[in-house]
Amino acid sequence: MKFFIDTANLNQIKEAAALGILDGVTTNPSLMAKEGIKGKDAILNHYKAICELVDGDISAEVLSTDFEGIVEEGKVLAALHPNIVVKVPMIKDGIKAIKWFTDNGIKTNCTLIFSAGQAILAAKAGATYLSPFLGRIDDSGWDGVQLIEEIAGIFRVQGFKTEILAASIRSANHIIQCAAAGAHVCTCPLDPILGLLKHPLTDIGLAKFLEDAAKM
Ligand code: E4P
Repeated sequence: MKFFIDTANLNQIKEAAALGILDGVTTNPSLMAKEGIKGKDAILNHYKAICELVDGDISAEVLSTDFEGIVEEGKVLAALHPNIVVKVPMIKDGIKAIKWFTDNGIKTNCTLIFSAGQAILAAKAGATYLSPFLGRIDDSGWDGVQLIEEIAGIFRVQGFKTEILAASIRSANHIIQCAAAGAHVCTCPLDPILGLLKHPLTDIGLAKFLEDAAKM
């Protein structure tokens, strides 16, 4: 399973990249706004800065919701760097645009996936990735991991090539569950990734080794 970090914060991206296990980055308009990125040039420059930090797929989201607007924006984003993946919302014009990008050799991430039906449509359009938002599904009282399992099962049967990018991850346990459920990628903030490091028996064991090492 690939690990992407879900942030537009350059320091957090650097910290995750320094671990040596980072395969890419996802962003969205909310994450960009959180970093105070405003205006077309600043947005494009920020994506370029991220591409310089990580050698892997970088999702950059379009803001348009009509076919022509999505295609025009996506072409500009894709021209920034070969690692840019154009992130497109799961709407009718989004699906049309994903098909256009697929036919024109531009990678895509279909975002805001909340059902298996939406996942099938994104895969049929040739999306490189699709992003089920499992944390938001859990927040609403459904089961996000179950959706990942369902999509993974359908994709195995149908042979779809689109990668399942588990998004909206809230905890280290979510990452483990997504790995077991068949997600190809998980994207999450830095904390859940660092959470995978933690176990009290590791801390106790290391303290004992260091104590005994002092006697050697
Ligand atoms: C991923 O592509 C999404 O931008 C992100 O995971 C959404 O996460 P949230 O539900 O924590 O905002």
